[in-house]
Amino acid sequence: MRTELCGIELEHPIINASGTFDAIAARRAFGDAVLERFPFSAYVSKTITPAPRTGNPPPRLWEEPAGMVNSIGLPNKGLDGFMDGDLPALAELPVPLIVSVMATSAEEFAPLVESVAGRAEVAALELNVSCPNVHSGLIVGEEPGETAALMTALRPLTAKPLIVKLTPNVAEPAAVAIAAEQGGADAVSLINTIKAAPALADGTPWLGAGSGGLSGPAVRSIALKQVADVAAAIEIPVIGMGGVERGVHAAALLGAGAAAVAVGTASFRDPLAAARIRAELEALAVDSPAPSGTA
Ligand SMILES: Cc1cc2nc3c(=O)[nH]c(=O)nc-3n(C[C@H](O)[C@H](O)[C@H](O)COP(=O)(O)O)c2cc1C
Repeated sequence: MRTELCGIELEHPIINASGTFDAIAARRAFGDAVLERFPFSAYVSKTITPAPRTGNPPPRLWEEPAGMVNSIGLPNKGLDGFMDGDLPALAELPVPLIVSVMATSAEEFAPLVESVAGRAEVAALELNVSCPNVHSGLIVGEEPGETAALMTALRPLTAKPLIVKLTPNVAEPAAVAIAAEQGGADAVSLINTIKAAPALADGTPWLGAGSGGLSGPAVRSIALKQVADVAAAIEIPVIGMGGVERGVHAAALLGAGAAAVAVGTASFRDPLAAARIRAELEALAVDSPAPSGTA
């Protein structure tokens, strides 16, 4: 089950999806048992932004028959709050730390990337590009040109791995993945949530922000298609996610070309879901080992 991602050794291929497992709160609630039985082989932080954000107005969640829609709105302590408050606590986790960052322009991204990458505790950065560029108004991750320009600006700032988190809300995610790769990304991760707007019977939007993003089992086969398309189009590793609830779902993403798999919404129902998924994946590998020479 050991694997490697952008030069980072992982004990197994199951990591968490950003924003879906609060390791600091889990440790507060369950103590050091969380460290002893940490379910992920690397930990991806909640996305941080340059300044603190309070997030979107409530309600922020809507349950679907096979998933949920969230409009959390990236509440976070901002760069300074993260560095002083959260980073020391996250550095105590027994696995490599990947910090997710987001900003609204390359100029805003730059100090974020330099500060976070400059810390020895941080193994890699994930760039959340599902946000409009303040100059162009375009969602960076929806436009290959915007993604390439951002990577060109950020790549020289650090030698640490830069993972671009792709949005599924495009016709051709592979085109954006190719732009990320050409701009110097070390890996891509996908899928982020799919735009969704639940409403009441009279048409009133349920979510305080009006709309949000769908995740969970409902998006699984979309994720599988997009991961396969992206993995076929680029050379750099792909981290696959979207609706993974069981070992077979992780195996399918790995089979589609993912180098690692992230568990997101499933952790809300069961914080140890990732440990079970990992065990199920391991059992599948034992039952049907890879042909000799390819293990
Ligand atoms: C409540 C919630 C919060 C999330 N927060 C973030 C975030 O801060 N940054 C990010 O890149 N993705 C965030 N995501 C998206 C997940 O990382 C993941 O890409 C998506 O949910 C698909 O995986 P899943 O179906 O396993 O949840 C969030 C998802 C949920 C449900």
